[in-house]
Amino acid sequence: MTIQSSNEILRKILAAMGSIPPQVYAPGDDTFLMVDAIATLSVEGKNVLDVGTGSGILGLYCALRCADVTGADIDELAIRHTADAARLLGVELKLLVSDVFSNIPSQFDLVLFNPPYLPSEGTHDGTVDGGPRGRGLIIRFLEELPGHLRKGGIAILLVSSLNSPDTLRDSYNNFEFSTIAKRALFFEQLEVLRLCLRNDLSI
Ligand SMILES: C[S@@+](CC[C@H](N)C(=O)[O-])C[C@H]1O[C@@H](n2cnc3c(N)ncnc32)[C@H](O)[C@@H]1O
Repeated sequence: MTIQSSNEILRKILAAMGSIPPQVYAPGDDTFLMVDAIATLSVEGKNVLDVGTGSGILGLYCALRCADVTGADIDELAIRHTADAARLLGVELKLLVSDVFSNIPSQFDLVLFNPPYLPSEGTHDGTVDGGPRGRGLIIRFLEELPGHLRKGGIAILLVSSLNSPDTLRDSYNNFEFSTIAKRALFFEQLEVLRLCLRNDLSI
């Protein structure tokens, strides 16, 4: 899709969201890098899961591009906020509270996750704190992802250089990884990874 139409969709979503409650993650550099990556994919008619939907921006972006979207977050307020924005935009999303995949029984063509990835000793802010090396949620996601991908399905995952992405690639060699967007920030480099199951490559 063109940058212009992608920006147009984003503008609509941000207007519908209005002010975001302080407890809910407000879109940041990581979010917009995910949007740039998703803009390169054809999502129309696809069955999409947005894990950790937060303000709902990624799920809403796909829904406005005619995907069939499920948005999930551990925070009920994030789900309520996303539901309000969806109503204003006139799009339908399935929304549910879920601890990563805990309440998700089904499989998807496309699974998105912009995780809390900052290295932390505990979880003080659940929107950003990711445990040791910021990898707690990323590891849970990678462990459980294979059961939630349809045949030929892919996942789009944001990681930071703080998460040692090379060792993640080595540890999860059941996936084929490629980097589809990256951005250097002041103290880290963000990468958007595209993952598919290695034994599914022929699809
Ligand atoms: C960095 S924010 C990303 C929000 C939004 N997807 C975006 O790109 O702007 C991470 C999100 O993950 C959610 N989250 C944290 N722990 C979670 C868990 N165990 N299961 C599901 N979502 C979780 C947070 O509530 C937050 O909304």
